[in-house]
Amino acid sequence: LDASVMHGPTRRAGAVAALEGVCTPSLVARAVMEKTPHHLLVGRGAQDFARAQGFEIDTDLNSEHSRKTWLEWKRRMAAAPEDRTAANQRVTNEMVAEGLIDPQHIYGTINCNGINARGEICGVTTTSGTAWKLPGRVGDSSIFGAGLYVDGEVGAAGSTGRGESNLFSVSSFLIVENMRRGMHPKDAALEAMRRVQQNTVDTSLLNARGLPNFGLNFYALNARGEYAGVSMYPGAHFAVCTENGAETLPSEPLLDDWHDL
Ligand code: GLY
Repeated sequence: LDASVMHGPTRRAGAVAALEGVCTPSLVARAVMEKTPHHLLVGRGAQDFARAQGFEIDTDLNSEHSRKTWLEWKRRMAAAPEDRTAANQRVTNEMVAEGLIDPQHIYGTINCNGINARGEICGVTTTSGTAWKLPGRVGDSSIFGAGLYVDGEVGAAGSTGRGESNLFSVSSFLIVENMRRGMHPKDAALEAMRRVQQNTVDTSLLNARGLPNFGLNFYALNARGEYAGVSMYPGAHFAVCTENGAETLPSEPLLDDWHDL
């Protein structure tokens, strides 16, 4: 589990990565921010810290369904002739096609950014990480500038989706810097998504049309309260809560087809 939090007014931040056994990693990240002089705790150290802070440590966070799905994935992977990356892609696609995996929940990340009436901005990103990862794998969610970035004067940005691709392009920092230069959150995030697409040249990450074969989403909010959700492909949504109440809105896609995962 990985999570990060950033608080604009105080310029404080906290994060945890490769934390096991705590189902609320964002609260542990907040405790890192509030109770330590550090920004990022990982692995065993993060778990020891969480325990000392009174968080319950669970030896297994799997549900019956997630364990069953994982065992089926493992069975198919063991019989796969390809290398791990290619096999994972094929097996995951097959399991999505067979309805065993919900394509919207391969990653399971949440980014939430907020601004209050005083214009104070904060953000949090929290995740169990991509499914089927190698032990020790850390994606983008706990990495400031990648899965989350907040500048109290400019705005906030965060991401969900394929963490490796976002980590490579450090997109949240790029989005906030684009907003600093005057871009609307939507344009700022679309430009960062274009950068991710340009950086995707590994053929194992491209579909038959030469386009990224993964999903990635950005969420951006500026200090004027303007916001946007941007995705690699159509079909993604994001939730907003304003003085008008809560709404779910479609994200703006960079690319227009999603034929071939
Ligand atoms: N974006 C979440 C992850 O890749 O772990």
